Amino acid sequence: MSTTSHPPLPKSIIIVGSGVFGLSTALSLSKRASFSPSEITLIDRSPFPSPDGSSIDTSRIIRADYADPAYASLAAAGQEIWRQQEANQLGGEGRYSESGLVLVSNKGSDNEIYVQKSFHNVLDINKGTENEGSVKELPSRREIEETVGTRGGSGDWGYSNTRSGWADAEAGMLFLRRQVEALKRVEFLTAEVASLVFSGSNTTGVRFKNNSTISADLVILATGAWTPTLIDLRGRAQASGQVLSYLPISDAEQERLGKMPVLLNMSSGMFIIPPKNNLLKVARHNYGYSNPISIPNPEGEGQIKVSVPRTALSDPNLWIPHEGEAACRQALREMIPSLGDRPFTKTKICWYTDTPTGDFIITYHPSYSNLFLATGGSGHGYKFLPVIGDKIVDCIEGRTPEEFKEKWAWRKEAVQNVLTADGSRGGRPGMLLEEELKKGSKL
Ligand SMILES: Cc1cc2nc3c(=O)[nH]c(=O)nc-3n(C[C@H](O)[C@H](O)[C@H](O)COP(=O)(O)OP(=O)(O)OC[C@H]3O[C@@H](n4cnc5c(N)ncnc54)[C@H](O)[C@@H]3O)c2cc1C
Ligand SMILES: *[C@@H]1O[C@H](CO)[C@@H](O)[C@H](O)[C@H]1NC(C)=O
Ligand SMILES: *[C@@H]1O[C@H](CO)[C@@H](O)[C@H](O)[C@H]1NC(C)=O
Ligand SMILES: *[C@@H]1O[C@H](CO)[C@@H](O)[C@H](O)[C@H]1NC(C)=O
Ligand SMILES: *[C@@H]1O[C@H](CO)[C@@H](O)[C@H](O)[C@H]1NC(C)=O
Repeated sequence: MSTTSHPPLPKSIIIVGSGVFGLSTALSLSKRASFSPSEITLIDRSPFPSPDGSSIDTSRIIRADYADPAYASLAAAGQEIWRQQEANQLGGEGRYSESGLVLVSNKGSDNEIYVQKSFHNVLDINKGTENEGSVKELPSRREIEETVGTRGGSGDWGYSNTRSGWADAEAGMLFLRRQVEALKRVEFLTAEVASLVFSGSNTTGVRFKNNSTISADLVILATGAWTPTLIDLRGRAQASGQVLSYLPISDAEQERLGKMPVLLNMSSGMFIIPPKNNLLKVARHNYGYSNPISIPNPEGEGQIKVSVPRTALSDPNLWIPHEGEAACRQALREMIPSLGDRPFTKTKICWYTDTPTGDFIITYHPSYSNLFLATGGSGHGYKFLPVIGDKIVDCIEGRTPEEFKEKWAWRKEAVQNVLTADGSRGGRPGMLLEEELKKGSKL
């Protein structure tokens, strides 16, 4: 660990944010003997489950298919837990489905490299095990379409991995919340944190909107895409808005498509996860939109400009920009032609907490003592729900796993513009939500 002081044993801990990062941290702190004397308070601005939190949705892809071996193996460890299918376990009662994943790109596109590296990593993970045959190259569009089985497809090179799948994201979070509640160690508080409270370079607690404060020996910030409004993360993390579109399907379609694999086109970022409860989702993983606005500098005087999430919570009629809906429409036509013209009945902008490399930020703040950051999900954090809390608490205790020491650290150099360059993103960088909405949207 760096020299920034962390109390050997905080008597009181505040966690701000009850998404995957904050809630899994609460569970791990509750279980760990070294923290048994600590009071733990978990604060979220919304009642659980937060309607606009990034961890709450119909589905999230669960894959160890990463170009980076460290994340590939942590994800594989998480998947072992997702796979436990008994009713009283995380993966039970339909919370996890191992539908398989078809990961494709267009030959010659920048993102082909990501897909190739990922292909080799998952081959390695399974080598010499009984699962050796679960990963299969799909060398052309014909093989891709045969594997997807929807009479559609995408891309012209890729592979399938039958040992990847998807989770019912909200159900997984509800399960995690019940685990935390059962241990009776955490006090839950529904309140919006307006700012952190500093005393010189020490962090002493949090302040609410009504100006009242509560103090703690350790404050853990896990506020996802909102984190840059509570601490200055310019050049290190930034909220980027991603489009999601939903459409209803019939019982017969649910029956048929419920068995399809997850299909992800890394060249365009478009993906479809198998539907559940007669609802199908089409979404995009790319550079996304930013929403820069001026806010009071969370660390001092004046204003700073940061991308702030805009969601249906403050803007109930928010519908995605026409540009994003058109991309979802094109993907649907290509991937599931039989549904190509069915209208979307709901859309949503979900906010990533992007970092320049796609690495998480799990570290003490370099300048303020007693402040710990657990954020920077970069659009791929959900799958780590069963394992990330333990890693975060290891980092709090100064035992960051070797392979993540550099990756999860506070970046020394701020970048000019945060655009996640982990090889998985495509699309047009630098789109502004406001500008795209002005060009047209349903409403
Ligand atoms: C569209 C989309 C698709 C994704 N797909 C995948 C996928 O397929 N697979 C995968 O592994 N990952 C995926 N991810 C990424 C994953 O969902 C995120 O990395 C993860 O959920 C982030 O969790 P979090 O705890 O950081 O943030 P959140 O879940 O957003 O939690 C932050 C919480 O902080 C609260 N909060 C914010 N501000 C305040 C405040 N001032 N005071 C109090 N509380 C506050 C919010 O209410 C919220 O509940 C996707 C993300 C999105 C948006
Ligand atoms: C201020 O808000 C906090 C959080 O909602 C609450 O716990 C506290 O009682 C409020 N204080 C006053 C004086 O209203
Ligand atoms: C920092 O603040 C916390 C909370 O008030 C307190 O417990 C701790 O002793 C302070 N540390 C220093 C170095 O002042
Ligand atoms: C909170 O304190 C600030 C600065 O002291 C003051 O301007 C504001 O009116 C106060 N707000 C409330 C709700 O008391
Ligand atoms: C997959 O990406 C390529 C390259 O951007 C694009 O030509 C193709 O249409 C994409 N497919 C879908 C379904 O978006």
